[in-house]
Amino acid sequence: MALIAPSVLSADFLNLSRDIDMINQSHADWFHLDVMDGRFVPNISFGLPVISAIKREAKKTLDVHLMIEEPGKYAEDFKKAGADILSVHIEACPHLHRNLQQIKSLDMKAGVAINPHTPVQLLFDVLHDTDVVCMMSVNPGFGGQKFIHHTLEKIKVLKAEINRRGLSTLIEIDGGVTLLNAKEIIEAGADVLVAGNTVFSTQNPSATIAALKAIIA
Ligand code: DX5
Ligand code: ZN
Repeated sequence: MALIAPSVLSADFLNLSRDIDMINQSHADWFHLDVMDGRFVPNISFGLPVISAIKREAKKTLDVHLMIEEPGKYAEDFKKAGADILSVHIEACPHLHRNLQQIKSLDMKAGVAINPHTPVQLLFDVLHDTDVVCMMSVNPGFGGQKFIHHTLEKIKVLKAEINRRGLSTLIEIDGGVTLLNAKEIIEAGADVLVAGNTVFSTQNPSATIAALKAIIA
């Protein structure tokens, strides 16, 4: 059964407690939390104090997606704030292997996020150290963008390599996931779907999460 990770980036920050509780009560599996620094990506979102606050109320896995430069400097802080999964961008990490070991040594699941233009083969030499690949299907920085279709090919290549080596690495797809494309993304080999705009732009976000889950079941 594939997993759904609603992206809190699209929540109503004035009613964050209500939206966190909605996710708690819904069929969602993880909380996807997007941290942006205005340098690695052209936007600034939220950081450590907000994640600590969410942790106090969240009853599900906190999946933290760092879109920041020098993420290694902050790994320990994100552990303290409550991250269960910590993903760093391959494009921000010249010493990616070291970053992944650091995250694991802090007792978090290690994730690598990868931009649409970056060949997925660049991950192969750290795949056995990677719990989750957060594959970007939009250019990171903003919610509500259109799914980049070529991602489906990248998923298939990555899935074949994971299967060939008998690994348990999960493939998470981040950006532009909708009720219309969820099925083909799962069929290509994805294990986790992030959904921000699709969930929070609807009248009944909880029902939309249930609909996504039913599509990919
Ligand atoms: C984009 C973020 C995504 C974003 C997805 O940089 O990493 O997690 O919230 O939003 P949607 O689902 O609206 O494309
Ligand atoms: Zn994200």
